[in-house]
Amino acid sequence: MGRVTTYIGRRASNRVKITTTLPDEPLRALLSASLFEWVIENLCKNAIDAMDGEGHIHIMARSEAYCIALEVSDTGKGIPSKHFSTVFTPGFTTKQRGWGLGLSLARRIVEEYHHGRIFVKQSELGKGTTFRIELPLYDGENTPSDEQNG
Ligand SMILES: Nc1ncnc2c1ncn2[C@@H]1O[C@H](COP(=O)(O)OP(=O)(O)O)[C@@H](O)[C@H]1O
Ligand SMILES: [Mg+2]
Repeated sequence: MGRVTTYIGRRASNRVKITTTLPDEPLRALLSASLFEWVIENLCKNAIDAMDGEGHIHIMARSEAYCIALEVSDTGKGIPSKHFSTVFTPGFTTKQRGWGLGLSLARRIVEEYHHGRIFVKQSELGKGTTFRIELPLYDGENTPSDEQNG
């Protein structure tokens, strides 16, 4: 997570503030670090696109009772509630040069590779959006080669 935020931080203008709330203990989830970084990076890019050059992105990760939860919140323009699930459809974009593939791929990575869920948790027009990812807790039984902490 640290790596992604530094990277995004460098790309974003200095009027986009990025903050994180991460646990002290490393989170143990079964994940492919590179694919997962791509997902977070894409959520952050969308967040930046949703802001007019200025705003705040907050990334939170924590262990919950039934999952590892990760939320990316922004202070961008928001998503109309009728589009909360449409945004994950391949080809759906509201951008002039958008491909509309970022979120559909993000969903595939989270759901098919990581057996998790990704969805719009909350969004308000003109105020901002929170995307939430839930990953199953790692039960420690499998030891895949690409297992990573946090
Ligand atoms: N954080 C966000 N705030 C507002 N709208 C968003 C956000 N993330 C995604 N969207 C909406 O979802 C659409 C699809 O996103 P995505 O699949 O990444 O494709 P693209 O970025 O190429 O448009 C975007 O065009 C935008 O309308
Ligand atoms: Mg995108």
